[in-house]
Amino acid sequence: MEQRKPVCLVIGAGSGIGGHVGKRFAAAGYHTVLCRRSDEEGLARLVAEIEENGGSASRQILNAAQDNTIEDLVAQTERDIGPIDVAVFNLGAQIGDRPLEETPYKTFELGWRLAVFALFRLGSALTPHMVDRGHGTILVTSATAAVRGNAGQHSHAGAMGGRRMLCQSLNAEFAPKGIHIAHILVDGPVESPDTLGKLLLGDDGYRKLLEEKGQGKDELIIPSELADTYFHIAQQHRSAWTHEIDLRPFTVLPWWNH
Ligand SMILES: NC(=O)c1ccc[n+]([C@@H]2O[C@H](COP(=O)([O-])OP(=O)(O)OC[C@H]3O[C@@H](n4cnc5c(N)ncnc54)[C@H](OP(=O)(O)O)[C@@H]3O)[C@@H](O)[C@H]2O)c1
Repeated sequence: MEQRKPVCLVIGAGSGIGGHVGKRFAAAGYHTVLCRRSDEEGLARLVAEIEENGGSASRQILNAAQDNTIEDLVAQTERDIGPIDVAVFNLGAQIGDRPLEETPYKTFELGWRLAVFALFRLGSALTPHMVDRGHGTILVTSATAAVRGNAGQHSHAGAMGGRRMLCQSLNAEFAPKGIHIAHILVDGPVESPDTLGKLLLGDDGYRKLLEEKGQGKDELIIPSELADTYFHIAQQHRSAWTHEIDLRPFTVLPWWNH
């Protein structure tokens, strides 16, 4: 009988961290379910790349900020694909630096919705399945703003700080039930064409950043390298689990030094 593939669900599978983590798990034999809000073509290319390399993946466009999207995704995946062994929660809530007066209530609320409430919804939908099975892993990407507030970061830091505390709370309740929850603090810029490119710097700004800090200089986190850490954490023995880890390029000062 053919053995079922383990399943890895990635919420926020862009061309940076999310996509590379998906590829890493697929390369190790997981079926990866890849989701993002837009760019159906980009997502299709990601699935095709995984399949060309002998892996298996499926894709879904969804807006995680909308009611029931995450809940339905978890239910459909469990029903139609298989038990979710690993969930990667990779949604960002970055809006760039904005003074308080340029941060409307709606913006703040959306940051919270994506950074914290969407993770709460994932936890609510997924942990009952994982508890029944007695195992499972939830890997949560995070950012410097989870541990340090700053000028212009009202929405982002308010939201990411909540994400970190939610991870600790989920861990306290679910680790003893066999569920491994990790808060992965990305404390530096990542080669991420969607986030740093399309969302924050634009094409020219991103190209300049790559010339200055990427392309062999290793001053931007290379997402395929970061993906190895996600994969490693998901394979840890339960007698030696990581709950929190931070990563940055070698030239970036850690958050507590500035
Ligand atoms: N990039 C960095 O420099 C950096 C630095 C520190 C921490 N981080 C953390 O890394 C994570 C993101 O990784 P990344 O920057 O490399 O990005 P990425 O994995 O390339 O892309 C993130 C994906 O999230 C999707 N997404 C955003 N809002 C969504 C929504 N409402 N519903 C469904 N999907 C949604 C985006 O979809 P669409 O593009 O289709 O909207 C995008 O595909 C975040 O947790 C962020 O805090 C990033």
